Amino acid sequence: MNTTEKLAPGAPPSADFIPLIVPEICGNEWKYIKECLDTNWVSSVGSYVDQFERMTAERAGTKFAIATVNGTAALHIALLLAGVQAEDEVLVSTLTFIAPANAIRYVGARPVFIDAEPKFLQMDPACVAEFIERDCRWDGVELRNRRTGRRVKAILPVHILGHPVDLDPIMELASKYSLQVIEDATEGLGARYRGRNLGSIGDVGCFSFNGNKIITTGGGGMLVTNNAEWAARARYLTTQAKDDPIEYVHNAVGYNYRLTNLLAAMGCAQMEQLDEFVEAKRRIATSYRESLADLPGVRLPEEAEWAFSTFWMYTPLIDEKQSGIDSRQLLRKLNENKIQARPLWQPMHRSPAHDSAGSPPCPVADAIHRQAISLPSSVGLSASSQRQVIAVLAGLIGQ
Ligand SMILES: Cc1ncc(COP(=O)(O)O)c(C=O)c1O
Repeated sequence: MNTTEKLAPGAPPSADFIPLIVPEICGNEWKYIKECLDTNWVSSVGSYVDQFERMTAERAGTKFAIATVNGTAALHIALLLAGVQAEDEVLVSTLTFIAPANAIRYVGARPVFIDAEPKFLQMDPACVAEFIERDCRWDGVELRNRRTGRRVKAILPVHILGHPVDLDPIMELASKYSLQVIEDATEGLGARYRGRNLGSIGDVGCFSFNGNKIITTGGGGMLVTNNAEWAARARYLTTQAKDDPIEYVHNAVGYNYRLTNLLAAMGCAQMEQLDEFVEAKRRIATSYRESLADLPGVRLPEEAEWAFSTFWMYTPLIDEKQSGIDSRQLLRKLNENKIQARPLWQPMHRSPAHDSAGSPPCPVADAIHRQAISLPSSVGLSASSQRQVIAVLAGLIGQ
């Protein structure tokens, strides 16, 4: 096996490699999944689906939760609920995994990419305000992008790396300009903004339970909302929009987006352990902070005074001049030392998959992208493995 194969996302790392993030399966996963197998309740209805939805709603602090096959599907449905239509525009973080930008395209709408703020690396509310107030026209009913003439319908802040976006100013703008807010909280389960759980603050929130998330079902997602009508619509759309289950009458085009009972069983077992997982992530972050603080040119992740971060994926920024090594060289050296690390995603305004012509410039995200490097952050990262990562970093930086 060559190094590239070893590092393929989602592939189990070889035993001698310290992985970036792998699942932690040490609770009731076997028991609950076995129960599904023993009782034949393996498909898309079953008590574990209902239970997983209840547990997620409780955890997010919303009235409703609807399980989906993955987080991208939840985002797709959330955009439909928000009434986003073809040729509308949606303001979305540029510094994100590509899924939310893709979901915007699934409904035929256009993403407008918004820059990050430099401190916590999240969507910058000042850039949202600047775009709306400088580049858009408000006629008292609708907001339109002056340059493209398209209607701006929603804001999709993505809480990245376990830290919240500063949402209050974004919610204020949304209320002033009649915009819906869809929170992509897929990396933020367990994190809080001013005491409120992520996913519960906007009109609708989305979670992912893929293999690297703080809890996992292998693949899975969830949509949360306090809006009863939207919840019913989400349930309808995720189950093929079936109006008559006997005669198979469908009054709309639906989607086969429902999570299976088997995977929901795993989700319940994982959700039972969420508090411990958050504690573990925060402990790992504290160890990194205490050990790496004095390395030259390394800017460590911060937690805003209004935030409770899970530090889901620990991502420092490396200043090449001060540290004597650039982030990509460091990445290669870590890999040579059998430590899996990775850069952040190409910012969406640079992605060949999307057109950023209607978006404002995003220089901060570009700078973050050059410098960011994510370090091993598994819940089960042992103290000795973490010491090894820290020792290798100390040997490479400032030499
Ligand atoms: C920010 C963000 N949004 C959406 C997703 C998509 O979730 P999924 O892979 O479950 O479709 C992910 C992760 O994969 C993500 O990190």
